[in-house]
Amino acid sequence: MSDFAGFLGNAYLWVKAAHIIFVIFLMAGLFMMPRFFVYHQETEIGSDEDSKWIEREDKLRRIILNPSLIIVWVLGLMLMVNIEAWATGGWFHLKLLLVLLLSGYHGWMIGYAKKLAKGQRSLSDKKLRMINEIPGIMAAIIVVLAVVKPF
Ligand code: HEM
Repeated sequence: MSDFAGFLGNAYLWVKAAHIIFVIFLMAGLFMMPRFFVYHQETEIGSDEDSKWIEREDKLRRIILNPSLIIVWVLGLMLMVNIEAWATGGWFHLKLLLVLLLSGYHGWMIGYAKKLAKGQRSLSDKKLRMINEIPGIMAAIIVVLAVVKPF
């Protein structure tokens, strides 16, 4: 099947470009949020600084993270239908599993921000820094799967 044979027609590459642009915004947010958590946890609960971090985390979620996640999914699913990705090899199934896990990570992070807003700080800075490595590793694998399609 040629790249342009799907329902997207000539828009296919534009949709793919937009998919990648919003992946970049999403990843930026996923990298920033745990950094925010580390700085946030250095503040005193109930202080002015505490409420400023709560507000920053809230804005990052509302303006960058959640809209980007939704757009990445919508465009990704359009690409999937367009190229009938499920029939193109194992790469897509593994990519789908990893993006589901990445979306789970996204959800976990939003949950942790809500806990911080309530003054609950369950993880140490060291654990947060380690957790912060997860999205980078996952993004690297996802990009290789999508671009190289090794299987
Ligand atoms: C959220 C659900 C997602 C779905 C359903 C999805 C699906 C797809 C599909 C079907 C393509 C087209 C592949 C092709 O035309 O050959 C694609 C391209 C791509 N996706 Fe995703 N994707 C998702 C999320 C992501 C994420 C989170 C990343 C990166 C971290 C990502 C990175 C890429 C890249 C780099 C390409 C371009 C591949 C190329 O043509 O060279 N995608 N995606």
